[in-house]
Amino acid sequence: MIPMLDLALQYGALKADLDRAIAGVLESGQFINGPNVRAFETEVAAYLGVTHAVALNSGTDALHLALRALGIGPGDEVITTPFTFVATTEAIGLVGATAVFADIDPRTYALDPLEIERLITPRTKALIPVHLYGAPADMERILAIARQHGIAVVEDCAQSIGARAGGHQTGTLGEIGCFSFFPSKNLGAYGDGGMLVTNSERIAARARALRTHGGAVKYRHEELGVNSRLDEIQAAILRVKLPHLETWNLQRRAIAQRYSDQLRDLPAVQVPYDRPGSLPVYHQYTIRTEQRDSLQRMLSDVGIQTMVYYPTPLHLQPVNAHLNYRPGSLPQAERAAAEVLSLPIFPELGVRDQERVIAAIAMACQATADV
Ligand SMILES: Cc1ncc(COP(=O)(O)O)c(C=O)c1O
Repeated sequence: MIPMLDLALQYGALKADLDRAIAGVLESGQFINGPNVRAFETEVAAYLGVTHAVALNSGTDALHLALRALGIGPGDEVITTPFTFVATTEAIGLVGATAVFADIDPRTYALDPLEIERLITPRTKALIPVHLYGAPADMERILAIARQHGIAVVEDCAQSIGARAGGHQTGTLGEIGCFSFFPSKNLGAYGDGGMLVTNSERIAARARALRTHGGAVKYRHEELGVNSRLDEIQAAILRVKLPHLETWNLQRRAIAQRYSDQLRDLPAVQVPYDRPGSLPVYHQYTIRTEQRDSLQRMLSDVGIQTMVYYPTPLHLQPVNAHLNYRPGSLPQAERAAAEVLSLPIFPELGVRDQERVIAAIAMACQATADV
């Protein structure tokens, strides 16, 4: 079986350091708001080149508190992509604002800037581009639109830690960047974790207050907040892993390159498009084919796991039914949802296994063409 990812291999390679870090926390007796969380915030801020990093319980909370910190609420509209994980629009709904979906660029699967412009109204308060699969969205044009209309940009970087757009780290281009440390992410904890980053002192202070029950001072609560803390054990684990992130992302890029070099010539398959000037981190390596479902079945039959991220675009999810979108309203996202297929990718994926995946895809495409 070739899995989508194998976290045990990464643990094996770092076992001594990780075990020591976890034991250190257990021995310290300090599990919340301790030195590892503070150090991890400083280390991530330095890595990304941003002034403030606020550690949270999840990427979902980072998006939610980002919108709260910007003062977005009922009556406001937030434009985002329908082709993402549900957390992106969950955050918009949780603050009482309305999600407005712009269709995607079919080559990159990210928000199409041309689609954004025509959806802007006086109520639009923020744009949430998602750097899906670890590939930066077209930030240059998205930022230009946002500046022109005085709208905030919240980057959903759950899948893109370490990716660069125009030489800049994703998450540092808009007002706020939101990261996830879910175990399968390029930088993953052994539980939930997330982070909000910003260059604004005001936004960082508000997010810090919101994460601890709406108050900067203990037992004084200025507004309705939440309990959203990264814990010391997760922070200690992430501090061991952070110095390896650049190498892991390089390895992911090399694997992606090998896939693309060998799959590019298959007529039925579209390989990922790398936008000039962007440095993706391949959280997922995602191909596209009209024979997606049969290809997935054939790969499964020979022991190769694949995944569909995501089978139903968010404008057609029951949770968003009140927004009144219909099938056909966002055709690019709907087509992508029917055609994308993510292949196994993780830094430790061996060349032999990768060659097996490539050969199996070529064979499946040939079999389909012969029918
Ligand atoms: C694009 C995107 N946004 C947000 C999230 C939410 O992150 P978390 O699972 O840490 O809440 C995820 C994670 O799955 C994601 O992939």
